[in-house]
Amino acid sequence: FGRNLVFHEEVDSTNVQAKILARQGAPEGSVFVADCQTGGRGRMGRVWVSPPGANLYFSVVLRPSVPPVRLSQIPLLAAAAIHRAFGTSVEGVSSMIKWPNDILISGRKVCGILCEMETEPDMTHFVIVGIGINVNLQDIPGEIEAVATSLFLESGYEHSRSDILSSILNHFEPLYEEWQEAEDLRDFLPYLERYAWLKNRDVEVEHYKNTLSGRVQGMSRTGELLLEEKDGTVIAVSSGEARLCKG
Ligand code: BTN
Repeated sequence: FGRNLVFHEEVDSTNVQAKILARQGAPEGSVFVADCQTGGRGRMGRVWVSPPGANLYFSVVLRPSVPPVRLSQIPLLAAAAIHRAFGTSVEGVSSMIKWPNDILISGRKVCGILCEMETEPDMTHFVIVGIGINVNLQDIPGEIEAVATSLFLESGYEHSRSDILSSILNHFEPLYEEWQEAEDLRDFLPYLERYAWLKNRDVEVEHYKNTLSGRVQGMSRTGELLLEEKDGTVIAVSSGEARLCKG
């Protein structure tokens, strides 16, 4: 990944850029990076605060040759790649993967992933994997101060954004190749569960219009969160936003 890499000082959103270029045929593994974004987007229609000079904002174009039902596994794969990259490139911190697509350090978010899928006229798909990482950010904006952090704040030293980017891309590509050959996430589950921040915790998950609650047992082979409800039933949640229950 990254053999075709485009850098912009400023864009609206690297996901939007990547999507436009993917529609025009940008090859798999193309990477779009920006120093800042004027319209950075998060999941659930939220804004991704994207100031210049300190962070990483980038998007990778994937053209997976797998059945479309498997595409929802890609955020977890990306999370595993980022987690590995942090493990090798960032000293003194231990990060955790929060299902389905965040990386946390000390319970605060340091990285978010926004995957967007599109079907081409020939019925193949491309997926834009958008990754935002707070790298050297020193002052977390007030509105997210309680829930966000940066690699700098957690490790106590500044990081080279390009080293972190290349480390992520170097970890992501072989994982992705392995995943395409596999049937599901089975081979990645031990890793994903070992570093799962939600494991054995009581959570509430917003899943469409419902709030599901229970204790997290783990993850299914297809990437669903397995929740044990109060009556002992285990349900598999395919998507949503999980938050810890207080108490
Ligand atoms: C989230 O946690 O809500 C996902 C955040 C994803 C942010 C990244 S930054 C690069 C790419 N471009 C965007 O507009 N969003 C993603």
